[in-house]
Amino acid sequence: MKSIFALLTVAVFCSAMLPQDDELAKSMERGKMVYSENCISCHMGTGEGVTATFPPLAKSDYLMKTPELAIKAIKYGLIGKIKVNGVDYDNMMPNPGIGNDEIADVTNYIMNTWGNSSEKKMITEKMVDEIKEKK
Ligand code: HEC
Repeated sequence: MKSIFALLTVAVFCSAMLPQDDELAKSMERGKMVYSENCISCHMGTGEGVTATFPPLAKSDYLMKTPELAIKAIKYGLIGKIKVNGVDYDNMMPNPGIGNDEIADVTNYIMNTWGNSSEKKMITEKMVDEIKEKK
C-alpha cells in the first residue's frame, strides 16, 4: 500500500513537470522556423556565425550570460562594439522586425540548440514585452 502511494506521488509529480517541458519543446519548434527565415543567413545553420563579422550564437557567452541584452538585439537590432567569446565585433544587425511571441520562440530555440542549454528556463512573450530599447 505504501509503495502504491509512493508511486502515485511520483506520477503526479512527473505529470506536473511535463507541461513546462512540453511548452519549451513547442516554443523551440516554432523558434526553429523563425530562425531559418530570419537569422540563418548571418548566424549560419549551426549558429557558428562568421568570425569577426557575424557573432556566433552557439556557445555564445553574450547570449547565455546576458540573455536580456541578446533579446534586446533581437527586438531592436544592434549596432556598435560588442565582444562575443573574446572576439570583437563592430558591425550592425538590422532589426528582424518580428513579433514578441516570435522573439520568445527564437530565443528559446537558440538558447537550447548547438550545445546551449537554458536549463529548462523558458523565455516568455511577457519577458520580451518588458525589455525596452533604452533603460
Ligand atoms: C544581416 C545579418 C544578421 C541577421 C539576419 C541577424 N543577425 Fe544577429 N547579429 C548580426 C550582427 C552583425 C551582430 C553583432 C552586431 C554588432 O557588432 O554590434 C548580431 C548579434 C546578435 C546577437 C548578440 C551577440 C551573440 O552572438 O550572442 C544575438 C543573440 C543575435 N544576433 C541573434 C539573432 C537572431 C535570433 C536573429 C534572427 C531573428 C538574428 N540575430 C538575425 C547579424 C545578423
